[in-house]
Amino acid sequence: MYKPGSAAALCAVASFLAIPVLGGVGPGSLTQYVNIFTGTAQNDNPGNVFAGAAVPFGMAKVTLQVAGYSPAGYVSESTELARGISPLHDSGTGSSEGSYGNFCIMPVVCAGFSQCPALEGPRSLRRVGDGNNDTGFPGYFSTTLVNGVQIELASTQAASLERYTFPAGTMPTLVLDWTDDSPHSFLFGQMHADWPAQRIIMNGTFRSSFGPSQFSYPAFQCVDLSLAGSISDRTLFGGNTNGMDARRDDLDFWDLPPVAERLRRPDFIQPLQAGAIVRFSPPSSENGSILVRRGVSYTSAQRACENMEREIPAPDFDKLVADSNAQWEDKLGRIVLANGTSDYIRRLFYTSLYRTFLSPNNATGNAPPPYTDTEHPYFDGLYCSWDTYRTLFPLMALTSPREMAQIADTYVDGWRREGWLPECRANNVLGWTQGANNAVPIVADFIVKYADHAADLGLDLNEFWEALEHDVEAVPANWDYTGRRQESYKKLGYIAYNYLESGSTGQRTREASRGLEYAFGDFAAGMVAETLNKSDVAKALFQRSLTYRHNFDPSLKSDGYSSFVARRFPDGTFVPGSNPVDCSPLDTNSSHECSTQSTNTFGIYESSSWEYSLYAPHDVAGLIAVLGSNDTANKNETFAKRLHHFFDAGYYLPGNEPSFQTPTLFHHVGRPADSVRQVRRIVYDHFNLTRGGLPGNDDNAAMASLLVWHLLGLYPVPASGEMLVLSPFMPGYEIHNELLGDVRVRVTGFDLRSLARDVPQGARAFVDTLKLDGVAVGRCRVDFSQLFAARDVEFVMTDVEVGGCDGQEPSSVSAGGFV
Ligand SMILES: *[C@@H]1O[C@H](CO)[C@@H](O)[C@H](O)[C@H]1NC(C)=O
Ligand SMILES: *[C@@H]1O[C@H](CO)[C@@H](O)[C@H](O)[C@H]1NC(C)=O
Ligand SMILES: *[C@@H]1O[C@H](CO)[C@@H](O)[C@H](O)[C@H]1NC(C)=O
Ligand SMILES: *[C@@H]1O[C@H](CO)[C@@H](O)[C@H](O)[C@H]1NC(C)=O
Ligand SMILES: *[C@@H]1O[C@H](CO)[C@@H](O)[C@H](O)[C@H]1NC(C)=O
Ligand SMILES: *[C@@H]1O[C@H](CO)[C@@H](O)[C@H](O)[C@H]1NC(C)=O
Ligand SMILES: *[C@@H]1O[C@H](CO)[C@@H](O)[C@H](O)[C@H]1NC(C)=O
Ligand SMILES: *[C@@H]1O[C@H](CO)[C@@H](O)[C@H](O)[C@H]1NC(C)=O
Ligand SMILES: *[C@@H]1O[C@H](CO)[C@@H](O)[C@H](O)[C@H]1NC(C)=O
Ligand SMILES: *[C@@H]1O[C@H](CO)[C@@H](O)[C@H](O)[C@H]1NC(C)=O
Repeated sequence: MYKPGSAAALCAVASFLAIPVLGGVGPGSLTQYVNIFTGTAQNDNPGNVFAGAAVPFGMAKVTLQVAGYSPAGYVSESTELARGISPLHDSGTGSSEGSYGNFCIMPVVCAGFSQCPALEGPRSLRRVGDGNNDTGFPGYFSTTLVNGVQIELASTQAASLERYTFPAGTMPTLVLDWTDDSPHSFLFGQMHADWPAQRIIMNGTFRSSFGPSQFSYPAFQCVDLSLAGSISDRTLFGGNTNGMDARRDDLDFWDLPPVAERLRRPDFIQPLQAGAIVRFSPPSSENGSILVRRGVSYTSAQRACENMEREIPAPDFDKLVADSNAQWEDKLGRIVLANGTSDYIRRLFYTSLYRTFLSPNNATGNAPPPYTDTEHPYFDGLYCSWDTYRTLFPLMALTSPREMAQIADTYVDGWRREGWLPECRANNVLGWTQGANNAVPIVADFIVKYADHAADLGLDLNEFWEALEHDVEAVPANWDYTGRRQESYKKLGYIAYNYLESGSTGQRTREASRGLEYAFGDFAAGMVAETLNKSDVAKALFQRSLTYRHNFDPSLKSDGYSSFVARRFPDGTFVPGSNPVDCSPLDTNSSHECSTQSTNTFGIYESSSWEYSLYAPHDVAGLIAVLGSNDTANKNETFAKRLHHFFDAGYYLPGNEPSFQTPTLFHHVGRPADSVRQVRRIVYDHFNLTRGGLPGNDDNAAMASLLVWHLLGLYPVPASGEMLVLSPFMPGYEIHNELLGDVRVRVTGFDLRSLARDVPQGARAFVDTLKLDGVAVGRCRVDFSQLFAARDVEFVMTDVEVGGCDGQEPSSVSAGGFV
């Protein structure tokens, strides 16, 4: 699939990113363009990106766990003290206390064994340098602590190999933390040290990081210390932040049983920190390095040991790095950029594409109950579907049908085992629902594109349909973590404010944005029904998908524009006093709660009415009519003016998902060039390769996938094959799809001058015509199946801002529907 990079290219890159080349092992021909640290700053735009050692979709995401705000464990600022190396993490999520971070191993340097620090506070240290001295590439990570210990990490799906190089003349000593995950949520567990075998097993049950606090998950690890040499001293330890710091070298087993009170009351959790300290005889290697191997699982300690032994049978660090890197090369090779691509765009592209394969976490074979014995794939960290349905999964559909099939099956397995599709599986349990039950468009996107291949992939689409239909029709006991707030939506066509549901409960917030998202979910389910030849069901769902309109108050005004979504009473009147500016970047009241809080009283989730009033991805033509409902003049004009005002006035919030689609809406009024200009501005204003180079949380690569689409010059309508045609940032690319074959994209007249925030006069930034196998198909949209049927795709570029779509207007449910 790929050719190894030439030595010359590797050297150039190594100096640019300060990438180490380990005994001949370095990044490959595509991974050399990946900066694993983009999006890892804590200050200035925390992207919460995971940077460490991981394989694609790795459940083991091994990195340095730091003390302060660090949802992914690692942040680049070295002022945040390091607690140790933890094998479990998520990437890009926003949970304030962090997710996972369990089982830290910290290398400590101390003279007498009894003086070695063990508790989190005393043992924590800075890294050398100002925060930019950590290095790595896909498959490898390295950092050096101020105690002089260099840490290097390599990993497999569920295990890691860690190399700790101690300063000359010191005794290698490791603290193995058992209880302290990132949010300090340990409830109970067991620890067992088999000292003669030099193997330690740690089990714990911890609380989830984003969801009802009664949900908890088990985690298991198996540590093999036999590669580090012989043990000279060891002890178990336990302490707290009130001064307790006790050691017991007579113990090899410790059970902290579940205490009923501890399970019920989070405030009852005793702040016990516990684990083991192990010191080794000076290593025989001259450079003072020791190796530690460990495995993890959510199933059992035995499974954790098996993973370790199966996945890392020999302690060959460089080979493990090379194997991991080769897996990344394979994934990145699914989109190969043409030779004339600029170096910067190439780096931006592969850095982003890399992250789209980091999550979710493949825990197949390692699932906790009720999935332990499932025959289906199991992925953790679907965190959250509201973030990823727009761009991540449609991108996966473009390049990686087998992976996507497994993930779609994982969603359906949620329905098989727990009765519902998970919207936000976090730490293996149900998390809070965000916008709606947004697993529906994800599973739908897969079926719409791959129904013909389902049988070959071993999937039963009738069963998939049953799960989807259930999710959009059934009434959950609590809509906070599964399904929909269904009753008034079905009765009235919107989620009424001040309405008392019977037999179902949950937070009574986010009414308007839920209404819009449910309508889109109905469209998604309708597309599946149509694909499966259930025309009547499809028709009814498409009809219901038009109820998004019921959320618009035609008399609500802002900046001279009218028709904005707002909360609505059961009698049809709107809640007075709504301000469409609330919760937008222009909202000056910092007390407004805009997220999952029960005090979010705006009817909208993580966004403003200005933004969500532009949300109807399946019916933009209808939306334009709604927004211009009082216009006798040209509704297209009104819409275009409103869109420009939205961006110019500052309502656009680049760092959150509801804004993803907005810059492309100009396509729907025949102004594709305006979309191109807007996307250029977004790419250059809000994305770059620095550690603060993302406008918001990466959210399981939601941001990364958005950027990939922008660079490719396409934008997807989820749950449909439709893609809007934008302006590629490179002269061409090839897409390799294992099931559908290869597509070659050429950009005729590609103009480097068009790569600018503001497209200069005379630059060929705009699409004149898109041609599929030489046949012109307008300039606004292309269908997924058309693209793969074509093999030869040509964007013909021009410097003229050509108007209209040449008869290929983007689709809308109320204007003829989708193919
Ligand atoms: C950190 O990295 C910079 C740039 O590569 C280097 O000049 C500096 O010496 C490093 N600092 C330490 C303490 O290693
Ligand atoms: C935790 O580990 C011990 C080994 O030390 C094992 O005997 C025990 O069954 C494990 N606990 C669970 C819940 O699996
Ligand atoms: C340390 O030396 C051992 C062999 O003695 C070698 O395998 C290892 O790669 C070296 N570590 C580093 C960090 O150079
Ligand atoms: C880039 O150029 C090389 C050498 O001419 C050629 O082998 C390769 O196929 C080209 N790659 C692409 C993606 O066009
Ligand atoms: C997930 O892991 C299972 C078990 O190792 C493997 O069969 C499957 O291919 C993996 N899926 C992905 C997408 O990596
Ligand atoms: C739906 O009908 C079409 C046309 O008759 C057929 O080609 C297709 O296989 C059918 N699909 C399913 C899932 O039954
Ligand atoms: C728009 O028309 C509706 C009735 O069709 C009316 O209630 C509303 O006040 C009008 N809004 C504006 C801004 O004129
Ligand atoms: C700001 O918002 C809070 C919470 O909604 C509200 O109580 C307060 O009155 C608002 N302040 C101003 C100045 O509007
Ligand atoms: C509005 O734009 C759409 C999409 O380009 C087009 O089909 C329609 O004819 C336009 N309407 C008017 C009145 O110009
Ligand atoms: C990089 O992107 C971030 C996030 O949007 C932005 O704040 C920052 O100014 C950019 N930096 C550069 C050097 O362009």
